[in-house]
Amino acid sequence: MVSMGNQQQCRIITATAALFLAVCGILLLVVPTEDVKETPEFMYGIVLDAGSSHTTIFIYKWPADKQNGTGVVSQHSECHAKGGGISSYAGNKGGAASSLEECMEKATQEIPKSRHKLTPVYLGATAGMRLLNISKPKESDAVLKEVADKLKTYPFSFKGATILSGQEEGAYGWVTVNYLLENYIKYGFVGQWLSPGRDTVGALDFGGASTQITFETKQTVENEDNLMKLRLYGRDYQIYTQSFLCYGRDQVLLRLLALLIKTQGSDHSIVHPCYPAGYSDSVKLSSVFDTPCNKRQTPYKPDDVLQIKGTGNYNQCLGNVSRLFSLNNCSYSRCSFDGVFQPNITGNFMAFSAFFYTHSFLQEATGISITSPEYLEEATHVVCNMSFEKMRNQFQGHESHLKDYCTVSAFVQVLLVNGYGFDFRSFPHISFQKKAGGTSVGWSLGYMLSLSNLLPAEDVLLRKSLRSALHYIQPTNCVDH
Ligand SMILES: *[C@@H]1O[C@H](CO)[C@@H](O)[C@H](O)[C@H]1NC(C)=O
Ligand SMILES: *[C@@H]1O[C@H](CO)[C@@H](O)[C@H](O)[C@H]1NC(C)=O
Ligand SMILES: *[C@@H]1O[C@H](CO)[C@@H](O)[C@H](O)[C@H]1NC(C)=O
Ligand SMILES: *[C@@H]1O[C@H](CO)[C@@H](O)[C@H](O)[C@H]1NC(C)=O
Ligand SMILES: *[C@@H]1O[C@H](CO)[C@@H](O)[C@H](O)[C@H]1NC(C)=O
Ligand SMILES: *[C@@H]1O[C@H](CO)[C@@H](O)[C@H](O)[C@H]1NC(C)=O
Repeated sequence: MVSMGNQQQCRIITATAALFLAVCGILLLVVPTEDVKETPEFMYGIVLDAGSSHTTIFIYKWPADKQNGTGVVSQHSECHAKGGGISSYAGNKGGAASSLEECMEKATQEIPKSRHKLTPVYLGATAGMRLLNISKPKESDAVLKEVADKLKTYPFSFKGATILSGQEEGAYGWVTVNYLLENYIKYGFVGQWLSPGRDTVGALDFGGASTQITFETKQTVENEDNLMKLRLYGRDYQIYTQSFLCYGRDQVLLRLLALLIKTQGSDHSIVHPCYPAGYSDSVKLSSVFDTPCNKRQTPYKPDDVLQIKGTGNYNQCLGNVSRLFSLNNCSYSRCSFDGVFQPNITGNFMAFSAFFYTHSFLQEATGISITSPEYLEEATHVVCNMSFEKMRNQFQGHESHLKDYCTVSAFVQVLLVNGYGFDFRSFPHISFQKKAGGTSVGWSLGYMLSLSNLLPAEDVLLRKSLRSALHYIQPTNCVDH
């Protein structure tokens, strides 16, 4: 973890205190008055993070007693649904719904009965469902309806199942990061977090089908689509956010296979410079091309089998992975890649989900502490250079992912350094994290915090744009009630 200086910490604390105080408004709205008189126990909320590769069910809790304390929302537990993401059950009626049963039963047991009816349940689906909604909209609708119907059968207060836009995913992740940092750091610094601070922490998310970058910027945001203005506790934040569909881990692996098939001109056998030397595999062509991320120009036989032979060549791997990015077609003053506007990165960042796993694997595998682009490159080089046999001996238990570490590491390198523009000065300001203070880092907490605020107006809230939803987080709630 990158340690931040005291001064920086203070700035984070003060800025995020705004978010934190704002949330006490939410909590007041959530707590019905009868309960306050009764028992000072917890209130609960459930968010189903329906990702492209799997679904995670988060239970959050916060003190029900609004008289006391600020009602910090923390994670009570998380449960990983067995099987794939809900989008993987397209065309398999009942599959997505039953994949949620085990974890939802567990939630029913874990949350006290007297709180069931007061517990909101949200399901948010991300890029896996965004892709399904592009390729098979009817099946996407059917899956969403099915999981919604399922969730209504539990004794909780179901609030909706929806597909988040990339911008929403990015912005809710940013809310989570800044909310958690505030809580995490707060305890040692009570009293300081009300002084006027400015800086927030950026969020870097790397999922199975998309990746997001979100941070506060003072620069002009030249493309409206990337701009989010949030008013939180009397302070305006100008947020830049961008989500890249098809730049998640699993889609990148498939896009690279499609690129190698195309450039090597064979549907039957290819060499793969990112797979370890000594590794070979065979896959059906349909598994490569059955995604909107790989548009095939020429016809192909879906059932044909492709033989893949790993060569473990770092330079060729990096060269091919780089070709997944367009770095030279910018029509703004500055771009990240693919012609997408991006201001200069500034401040501290938290990188989570697959960024965290890739970073920690690289450090573990190589013993290199990755605190600069050079070290990232060096560690990637070492991993890409490992034979499959060496990998298997060194990392027993990780078997199924071993072949992909070189690709994903090279991808992270190109994305962060050549794409987003992190350099020797800014890279050390990235902190790679999975959890903060016991709570997993992702969009789901920010989502619940933002939506719960509008709890009484249930019907309105699900149609509200993120911008207006967040806009409602106002400190006045704390005073008025
Ligand atoms: C809040 O709770 C703590 C113990 O949890 C107690 O010591 C304190 O007096 C309470 N404060 C108020 C204002 O009720
Ligand atoms: C699916 O995509 C269409 C077209 O972009 C959009 O209008 C619709 O809202 C999406 N469906 C869901 C459930 O988000
Ligand atoms: C991509 O990989 C192939 C096969 O290993 C290699 O021949 C080619 O030079 C690589 N392309 C680039 C741009 O590095
Ligand atoms: C830049 O190139 C990428 C990939 O070819 C394409 O998706 C994108 O639309 C292009 N952007 C602009 C602004 O030309
Ligand atoms: C952005 O960064 C570039 C290169 O580091 C620098 O030349 C430019 O002045 C910066 N722009 C702003 C608005 O800070
Ligand atoms: C790559 O592997 C070969 C043989 O195992 C070794 O001689 C070479 O030093 C390695 N290179 C790097 C950069 O790790």
